[in-house]
Amino acid sequence: MTSPFPHLASIRGQVAVVTGGTEGIGGGCARRFSREGATVIALGRTAAKGEALIKELRAESGDAHFFACDCADEQQVDSTAKLILDRWGRVDILCNIAGGWREVPTIEEVTAKDMRHSFDWNIMSKLMITQRLVPAMKANNYGRIVMMSSTSGRRARMNSAIQYSTMQTGVIGLTRRLAVELAPFGITVNAIAPGTTLTPRAGRHSAERLAATARGIPVGRLGTEDELAHAIWYLCTPGAGFTVGAVLDVNGGVWTG
Ligand SMILES: NC(=O)c1ccc[n+]([C@@H]2O[C@H](COP(=O)([O-])OP(=O)(O)OC[C@H]3O[C@@H](n4cnc5c(N)ncnc54)[C@H](OP(=O)(O)O)[C@@H]3O)[C@@H](O)[C@H]2O)c1
Repeated sequence: MTSPFPHLASIRGQVAVVTGGTEGIGGGCARRFSREGATVIALGRTAAKGEALIKELRAESGDAHFFACDCADEQQVDSTAKLILDRWGRVDILCNIAGGWREVPTIEEVTAKDMRHSFDWNIMSKLMITQRLVPAMKANNYGRIVMMSSTSGRRARMNSAIQYSTMQTGVIGLTRRLAVELAPFGITVNAIAPGTTLTPRAGRHSAERLAATARGIPVGRLGTEDELAHAIWYLCTPGAGFTVGAVLDVNGGVWTG
């Protein structure tokens, strides 16, 4: 079905890079963008996951591609960004989804190594690829960048790790700062802050913990990958051009500001 508002909603023919794009919320974004007619370039560390995804999307006639890249590794980001720009010459959409959490140390337990690891995984992974792809967006005077944060970056909770909460708040700071720098070039930068969403990573928690989490969410359930991809899709549409430096909370009502 074509959109009745293509100038606002269509991303058909656009080039979309999704870091952490092979499964979970990023995989949901890659599927959604592909089904919207975009060329999708998914980045992830594990080739098997990426190859399975592009096989699935190409079977639906999607124009889907995968590059193995640890987005926290500067050399890998450098070479992958070059490959993308050499081949496509432009990037319209960049979704910085790669990141994650480890279990909850207390202030006595958290180490400098934990903090640095989380910084690289959740912040540098976003900054480095953005830095390398922004010049191509500037050249087109157009771009949509989405940064993955979390409800853990919006409010304090004891069952969110110290390093993760810290970095997710940092992602919001990075988003706002880049948003004002890049808005004059037709490039929007916004963040998304999901509550607990049922993905492979969240699925590693016990069924009891997930059920208890769901009971604490006003809608009474966890989020889905499709719901997150839908919200992210909006931020990536041409019609979101006046949405700048926003943090979109998609959390079933667990935190409302
Ligand atoms: N699920 C939730 O409840 C929730 C809530 C709030 C925020 N988030 C955030 O949303 C993002 C995705 O979470 P998820 O639950 O969907 O995770 P997931 O199920 O573990 O999927 C993560 C995806 O990112 C890739 N990835 C991880 N680290 C990467 C790296 N350094 N470089 C490139 N790719 C990387 C993974 O593939 P490889 O492992 O093969 O690299 C996979 O494709 C994370 O940033 C997370 O913090 C999740």
